[in-house]
Amino acid sequence: MFIGFVEELLVGNNKKNMSEIKKHWEEIYNKSNLNKHTWTQDIPETTLSIIASLNINKDSHIIDVGGGDSTLVDSLLNLGYKNITVLDISENAINITKNRLGDKSQQVKWIVSDILEFVPQQQYDLWVDRAAFHFLRDEKSIKQYANLVNTSLTKNGYLLIATFSDTGPSKCSGLEVKQYNKENLTKVFESGFNREYCVFEDHLTPAHTEQNFIYGLFKHRQEGLIPSHNLTEDRFVKCQNSIVLDSETSCNIENKGCCCD
Ligand SMILES: C[S@@+](CC[C@H](N)C(=O)[O-])C[C@H]1O[C@@H](n2cnc3c(N)ncnc32)[C@H](O)[C@@H]1O
Repeated sequence: MFIGFVEELLVGNNKKNMSEIKKHWEEIYNKSNLNKHTWTQDIPETTLSIIASLNINKDSHIIDVGGGDSTLVDSLLNLGYKNITVLDISENAINITKNRLGDKSQQVKWIVSDILEFVPQQQYDLWVDRAAFHFLRDEKSIKQYANLVNTSLTKNGYLLIATFSDTGPSKCSGLEVKQYNKENLTKVFESGFNREYCVFEDHLTPAHTEQNFIYGLFKHRQEGLIPSHNLTEDRFVKCQNSIVLDSETSCNIENKGCCCD
């Protein structure tokens, strides 16, 4: 019954309205479905490594958009970050993460919302989104998301956005996604951001298949200035699923002995 229900919803997410999309995600994260998903990472190494490279202070306001049951929030708390928000359309996903964290969950701000309905009550220094933005496929929603990021980030804020690359899968959780490369990802955000660099990651799913992700790091640009992207070369990493990360410096995308080949 569960499989039939999900399949029914997967006939092209273009046609689905928001309540159907929410239903889809609530079902994916329902209580009897605590298994790993294709996107699951035991430790979100690439994200953590990029965040470490920013040298932002521990009071920085960080939001993980479409955080799901990711352990990013666990790692950020362990690293001492104090102002973390996790937003997801699925309340089940948020509850899984809250339960995992136990008492520590009180240190986090939790928001159950469709990102396109989110009205931020504050600004953020870092906006992270791994594999949520790519579900937006029509131009209007993509623009709305880009505007939201633009108005929600502080003057020197960073956007770290990860999507399937154009050599990655065309579906995620059975839903169609928009794939990105360096050029079209930059284009979406360049009215307000300069690109710092991109990292391409071969994510090894729990079933040991590879999915190529692009991680774009963007820095907020002062209003009125023209785009000025860094010419830093792209980096390529292969991430395993079960590395134990015990300190901020133990995972570095330059460090071939750690998380990357
Ligand atoms: C593929 S999962 C990625 C989860 C997590 N970021 C990670 O890396 O493990 C996509 C997540 O985005 C959430 N999501 C999908 N569409 C969303 C929307 N419109 N607004 C907010 N969250 C959304 C889903 O509930 C899900 O948790």
